Amino acid sequence: MSAAQAKRSAEGVAAMRFAGSFERDPAVRNPDCMAGAFISARHALPARIAPLRRLLLPAYRRAFPGSYEYHIARTRHLDDLLLAEVGAGAAQVVILGAGYDTRAYRYADELAGTIVFEVDHPDTSARKRAALERQGPPPGNVTFIALDFDTADLGAELAAAGYEEGRRTFFVWEGVCMFLEPAAVDATLAFVADRSGPSSSIAFDYVLRSVVAGDHTSYGAAQTARYLARGEEPWRFGIDFDEVEPYLAARGLALESNLGPDELQRRYLERTDGRLHGRVVGFHAIAHARRSA
Ligand SMILES: C[S@@+](CC[C@H](N)C(=O)[O-])C[C@H]1O[C@@H](n2cnc3c(N)ncnc32)[C@H](O)[C@@H]1O
Repeated sequence: MSAAQAKRSAEGVAAMRFAGSFERDPAVRNPDCMAGAFISARHALPARIAPLRRLLLPAYRRAFPGSYEYHIARTRHLDDLLLAEVGAGAAQVVILGAGYDTRAYRYADELAGTIVFEVDHPDTSARKRAALERQGPPPGNVTFIALDFDTADLGAELAAAGYEEGRRTFFVWEGVCMFLEPAAVDATLAFVADRSGPSSSIAFDYVLRSVVAGDHTSYGAAQTARYLARGEEPWRFGIDFDEVEPYLAARGLALESNLGPDELQRRYLERTDGRLHGRVVGFHAIAHARRSA
């Protein structure tokens, strides 16, 4: 992935999360109220100013149907998993392709006793650090690792930064694996399975194999495919919903949950009045898998 593309993809999703953090109904609000610190004014202002926000949401929904809603569900589900894993004893959190992930800062209290490694492309990582420093020193438990997944040795870079293989670790891999070559996806999962402590786990979202292969019939797929076709980086990795469990098992990881669009909507897009806030894209799902004992 080029530096410019890495920055754009990280900023675009952070902007959607930030807009979602202004939802009036807490039942469907994106918790990422800190994303605004990392995005340009062009993205942040329309979210902050109520009359502009009223125009922003229909624009998002027209350009990327289901994507704004998917990001609400994804942020909340991964937040829930993070807090559960840390509560259950994960001593390290590794955020792979961290972009403008704000979990280490939003949950600074809950993660105070946990070491957090934010791993990302050098360009995105440098921009994030600069933005953080403008707001004061980042928490002492966060370490930044700048690398290119396609070429770097993840294990060597993590070890050099203080990662300890024997400790229970929670890996977050949000919005990343679809951009990687299948061999890089394999290498990352193999790392989690072979070089993390007992009970370690990884949560990641993925896109369906069919959409990568050109079937754009699912909700929101045609618009997203058109957007990707204009950029430099296509999606490279996809896997079908029912394939995930055997795929992970063959790599030493036991699937704990696998949430497709219907379940994500049911859990995270139901308003306080019981109505559906909006559909989520039809081609994304979120898996959580644990290292076999
Ligand atoms: C869509 S963004 C997601 C960022 C973040 N996880 C989130 O959900 O907000 C994709 C992220 O993957 C990173 N990334 C993609 N390909 C990469 C590569 N080959 N090496 C390092 N980072 C990469 C980008 O820098 C970017 O931060």
